[in-house]
Amino acid sequence: MAVQGFHPSSFLTNETARLEKTVGSGNAIAAVSGGVDSTVAASVAKRALGDRLYPVFIDTGFLRLGEPEEVKSRLSDSAIGLKVKLARAAGRFLDATKGQQDAEEKRKRFRDTFYQVLAEEAKKDNCEYVVQGTIAPDWIETQGGIKTQHNVLEQVGIDPMSAFGFKVVEPIRDLYKDQVRVLGRHLNIPTDMSQRQPFPGPGLLVRCIGTVSKPKLSLLKASTKIIEEKLGPFKYEQYFGGVIENKFVKNLEYKTLQSLAGEALALPPTETTVDVFEDRVTGVKGDDRIYGRLAGIIIREDSRETLGWLPEKLRQAQASIVESVAEVTRVAVMVKEKRGGPPVSVVVRAVSTRDFMTAAAAPVPWKILKDIADTILKTGDASRVYYDITPKPPATIEFE
Ligand code: XMP
Repeated sequence: MAVQGFHPSSFLTNETARLEKTVGSGNAIAAVSGGVDSTVAASVAKRALGDRLYPVFIDTGFLRLGEPEEVKSRLSDSAIGLKVKLARAAGRFLDATKGQQDAEEKRKRFRDTFYQVLAEEAKKDNCEYVVQGTIAPDWIETQGGIKTQHNVLEQVGIDPMSAFGFKVVEPIRDLYKDQVRVLGRHLNIPTDMSQRQPFPGPGLLVRCIGTVSKPKLSLLKASTKIIEEKLGPFKYEQYFGGVIENKFVKNLEYKTLQSLAGEALALPPTETTVDVFEDRVTGVKGDDRIYGRLAGIIIREDSRETLGWLPEKLRQAQASIVESVAEVTRVAVMVKEKRGGPPVSVVVRAVSTRDFMTAAAAPVPWKILKDIADTILKTGDASRVYYDITPKPPATIEFE
C-alpha cells in the first residue's frame, strides 16, 4: 500500500540527517512500547545513532499479561534489532494513580510518572535526548484538549528540560498512522507488528474505570487475555475489555430507561432492567470529550434465550436511551451474571473502524459473547459481563 505523496526513503534520509545533527556525538534513550509508532521511531533513530541509542521499555504495571517480556524479546530479535532494557516501575504507577477517579487526572499522573522514570533511566545511560514515537494525532488531540496523551509535553507548554532534565526528539511527529505503517514496512518491521491492534499509551489504566485497585487490575488483565484470544480471529480493528464496580446511581429520572429499553426491544417492561453505573466513562459530543454515564440493560434470561442477540433492536434501545437522557453516553447489554460474585463487572468492547475517529460496535456473535462471559465468570473475580453496544460518537472507543 502506498500513501499518496509520502516517500519513505526520502523521509528516512532527511530524518536520520536531522537526528545526527541534533544529537551530535551524544546518547539518546528511546521509549518503546511494542506498538508500531514507537518501534518505527526507535528504528529510525537506530539508523542515525547506532549503539548510541538506548531503547527502554517501561513496565508501568498497566500492561497485558506477559507483555513486557514479549515486547523485549520481539524487539531484540534480529528482524528489528533493538536491544531493549526493561525498567520495572509498576508500584510507582499504582501509587501515583491510587484513589483517583477522574479520567484526565489519572492520565496526567500516568504521564508525569512515565517521564520521571524515563528521566532516571536516561541519566543512568548518560542520555541527554529522549526519542519518542509521538505522531500527528497525538499532539493534535492533546492540544485540542480532547485527551491527555502520555507522550506529549512541548506541544502543551511543558518544557521537558526544566521539568524532567532531558530534550525530546520526535522523528515521526508529523506523520499519520498509515504513513507510519508504510515507513515500518520500508524499515522491514514485520507486518504482524505494524498491523497489530492499537494499545493506548496509558494501557489498562484507561480501561480500569473509576479508581484503580489491585483486584480490579488483575481481573482486567485476566479478562483481556480471554477477550483477545476469543475475538482475535474476527479481525475487528480493536477489541478489549474494561472493568467497572457495580455501584449504581439511584435517580428517579433513570426510571424511564427501563420503558425505553422495553419499547425498543418490543418486550414488556417486566422483561428488562436498566442500571446506571456510578463511575463515569468518556464520550464525544461534537469536538468535545465528555464524561457521561454507562447504562447497562439486563434482559431476563428466558427472553434472552428465546430471542438471541437482537443487534438491531439493541442499537435502537441504545440510541433512544442516549437521546433521552443527556447524562448517559454509553449503553451496554448484560451477557451473563453470576449471583453472589464480587460486585465488579467486565465490559467487553469490539469495534469496526477505518480511522478510529468514528467507530461502530462490532456484531460479535452471541455464542461467542456467551463463551467469553462464561470463561471470565469462571475466574471468580467478577459477577457480571456486559457487551458495549455504543458507536463512537456518542461513546469513545476506550472507556476513559
Ligand atoms: P478513543 O478512546 O479516543 O480512542 O476513541 C481512539 C484511538 O486512540 C487510542 N488511544 C490512545 N492511544 N495513547 C495512545 O497512544 C492514548 O492515551 C490513547 N487513548 C486512546 C485508542 O486505543 C483508539 O485506538
